[in-house]
Amino acid sequence: MNTNKKLYIETYGCQMNVSDSEIVGSIMKDIGYEQNDKAENADVIFINTCSIRDNAEQRVRKRLQEIRVLKKKNPNLTVGILGCMAERLKEKLIEEQEFVDLIVGPDAYRDLPQLIKTVETGRKAVNVLLSEEETYAEIEPVRYGDNGISAFISIMRGCQNWCTYCVVPFTRGKERSRDPKTILAEAKALFTKGYKEITLLGQNVNSYAWEENNVTFHELLKMVADISPKLRVRFSTSHPKDISDDLIKTIADNHNICSYIHLPFQSGSTAVLKKMKRNYTREWYMERIEAIKKNIPDCGLSTDIIAGFCTETEEDHKETMSLMEWVSYDYAFMFKYSERPDTIAAKKYDDDVPEDIKGRRLQEIINLQGKTSLANYKKDIGKTFEVLVEKVSKKSDKELAGRNPQNKMIVFPRKDYKPGDYVMVKVHDCTSATLMGEIVD
Ligand code: SAH
Ligand code: SF4
Ligand code: F3S
Repeated sequence: MNTNKKLYIETYGCQMNVSDSEIVGSIMKDIGYEQNDKAENADVIFINTCSIRDNAEQRVRKRLQEIRVLKKKNPNLTVGILGCMAERLKEKLIEEQEFVDLIVGPDAYRDLPQLIKTVETGRKAVNVLLSEEETYAEIEPVRYGDNGISAFISIMRGCQNWCTYCVVPFTRGKERSRDPKTILAEAKALFTKGYKEITLLGQNVNSYAWEENNVTFHELLKMVADISPKLRVRFSTSHPKDISDDLIKTIADNHNICSYIHLPFQSGSTAVLKKMKRNYTREWYMERIEAIKKNIPDCGLSTDIIAGFCTETEEDHKETMSLMEWVSYDYAFMFKYSERPDTIAAKKYDDDVPEDIKGRRLQEIINLQGKTSLANYKKDIGKTFEVLVEKVSKKSDKELAGRNPQNKMIVFPRKDYKPGDYVMVKVHDCTSATLMGEIVD
């Protein structure tokens, strides 16, 4: 079908949303919509939203004010809100943003063709049903704006851990895993097209479990890695409770499974972790990190940290800082606690750490991470890494950029190499976010 209609999707939030936008793109392509890179001349604008913190929602609301102006200029424009804000706020979003035509939750994207038809008859359309089965397993996502080298494959959806601060179980529904056959087929097809790196995605990727024939996460990881030694495999985000010895061993034993784990710890204080309902203690987390470091000595590590959760004392905050120092992460995503409506924390706990103290603690965490990152990157000077070339460097077309297995970006003179090649690069300099090196032939 070709109706020459133009779709513009803007994506906020996590990698799952990026991956979902590619699924939406594919569903819309089937009904004749081509992706367009400008909101200004689109027939349909979708905003795929995030609710994780209040400021994530405020960013979307601000952007919606600009979209409102576009809609005024072009009344035929269809505006849809997708993703986590759509799911959290449902019809209320139309009351708040009366110019919006369409509200679609993360499990309802297959209904988009019908919903678009409803809008074409002049009505508003809403579908925010959550599903216990939907994994979009057989939909081949369109690959937006990627480099043709690395791609995401979403392997599980939803979360039912109900951490007390978190909105995700409300917006993404129950945890469910995708049929491994369809994951392998997608990975093989990507490799055949020339892709060299696959990142398996899920809210708690390592809780993956396909019950029909008992496939667990480390087994799936190995199956994907076995497609070819020239295909790199990564995964995100892991929950500490499911970092099993089998998973650590699988990473250690397979050259093309990257030595890199993103393992959010949130707080270094067992009392706060309990209040967050994270289901692990400081000691348990440290034991898992020890197991990782012992078995994968060169493993890259990153994390997520929340500053100023309910009841967090100065002592608790120091425990977060000391855990950061002890692990020595290469990178961290650091946030101030933001109370989310309807969560257990919002209902039961007082958001009792004053804003200025939250801000000061977050700044201390950011400063410490800055120092640690720089120190870790400096330690790489003199080392040689295998790098998958991903792109020509932004700064100079004489340079290439790619990541080492530990997920650190390296920039180096291009010689005769191109994106998709594997090269050995010796590091001679760094900042706290990039390594600089030379190809050693
Ligand atoms: N499922 C992943 C994280 C998904 S959300 C996990 O459990 O590790 C990404 C990050 O956002 C979380 O790790 C947490 O650090 C942060 N986050 C979630 N809810 C938050 C809130 N209410 N306030 C501040 N940060 C929050
Ligand atoms: Fe949120 Fe916790 Fe689920 Fe992560 S594990 S998505 S933080 S509820
Ligand atoms: Fe945001 Fe939803 Fe992802 S709340 S972080 S887009 S799962």
